[in-house]
Amino acid sequence: MASQVLVAANRGPLSYDLGDDGTLTARRGGGGLVSGLSAALARQPDALWICAALSDADREAVRRGVSEPGVRMLDIDPTTYDDAYNGIANSVLWFTHHHLYDIPREPVFDAEFRRQWDSYVAYNRAFAVALAEEAGEGAAVLVQDYHLALVPGELRELRPDLRISHFTHTPWASPEFLGMLPDDIRSQLVWGMLGADVVGFHTWAWADGFMAGAHIDDTSGIARATGDPQRRVQHQKRGARIRYTDVAVYPLGVDADELRGLAHRPEVDDKLAALRAEVGNRKAIVRVDRTELSKNILRGLLAYRELLTVHPEWRGRVVHLTSAYPSRQDLAVYRSYTQAVRELAERINGEFATPDWQPVLVSVKDDFARSLAAYRLADVALVNPVRDGMNLVAKEIPVVSDEGCALVLSTGAGAYGELREDALTVNPYDVSATAEALHAALSMPADERLERTKRLAAAATALPPTAWFTAQLDALREV
Ligand code: G6P
Repeated sequence: MASQVLVAANRGPLSYDLGDDGTLTARRGGGGLVSGLSAALARQPDALWICAALSDADREAVRRGVSEPGVRMLDIDPTTYDDAYNGIANSVLWFTHHHLYDIPREPVFDAEFRRQWDSYVAYNRAFAVALAEEAGEGAAVLVQDYHLALVPGELRELRPDLRISHFTHTPWASPEFLGMLPDDIRSQLVWGMLGADVVGFHTWAWADGFMAGAHIDDTSGIARATGDPQRRVQHQKRGARIRYTDVAVYPLGVDADELRGLAHRPEVDDKLAALRAEVGNRKAIVRVDRTELSKNILRGLLAYRELLTVHPEWRGRVVHLTSAYPSRQDLAVYRSYTQAVRELAERINGEFATPDWQPVLVSVKDDFARSLAAYRLADVALVNPVRDGMNLVAKEIPVVSDEGCALVLSTGAGAYGELREDALTVNPYDVSATAEALHAALSMPADERLERTKRLAAAATALPPTAWFTAQLDALREV
């Protein structure tokens, strides 16, 4: 039956593992996009989520016809998928939007890049074709993230009747970084996005970046952003009529009841007791991230080390719990980053540890229950990404922390827009300022900490996933 609400995202709500005996078991997908969308779609029983098969186990599930209701996985040729996901989405678009390039050496746009780009186009087309097949007349299609930037344009050609939105969960590159892409590639990217009726971002900083980069006048057509009273991009492809794409902001928040429910399951209580035993009556500085270059884990550790050096009174009285669960380990630069995190933590422990105190506890396992236990225990939450679409951890910790926590927050996180007043904000590159912010956070009086935490939690829960999704659906229905 044709669907009226469709979501397209690279990662699905679940992913499969293939056991040695050939059995398939499903597990929940990771990352902010999946947690937000899963919660929202749980209340949209008729929606269809189209995602890619990410692994051989997923592909096997597709071939055996194993699936969950409301989910369609696309079995894309593994080499095409690898080029599109690792080659373009994660090595080019992610780096561009997060400004991660090591400029003297990167980026290099050569023949190999062109080959991978063709795969990215094919992968986007596979999504557009599947959406065109599944969507009912006039259906709402909500396309997610930088993996699928070309889908709105492709789908508009195939099915002009559909209402299409695109939501970017990452930052959007500044015009300088976007301008590093070859002209024709930048043009394809922007025209792909402009196939949507509405493009959404977590914060105006990223939405304004998109509008700044959406000025085009080339063989494909003309596009220009307009300002007041409504932020939109007016565009006209050669030989076609004028169309508009509205630019909107939907800052994804946290569902307090759901998260607190999850954080008080017996499994989490057990992990909390174990962590408490390790930390003792010391204070805990907590961070939880994917092992992700943009999360700035190394400078976070350097700041902790500087704290112990400049404020030696904290030695033996604080523990830094660092959870960095594995991510994108197919990319060499992510593997070496993960290794560097481990080594720096070991160095700090080697420098400062005493027989009864280990300054840094690192966990590189994907253990959601342990992360929630760490959230509850946190005296200080450290969220210092160089650039981050939103960063839900900054919103989750204040909501579940047992006794309130002080939040040290980077100006580069999308969450900065909503949480800046009650967080201790830091320039993510300034290690010394981060060390001082950690000191101030550890020293914050308990009543001030509680008051700030209440306000942080209120801001963090302003637009929970269901409302975030419904707002976008409503905007699309008004198109
Ligand atoms: C970010 C992206 C998501 C992505 C997630 C995890 O939140 O915006 O699209 O799913 O990271 O990354 P991964 O590459 O593992 O899907």
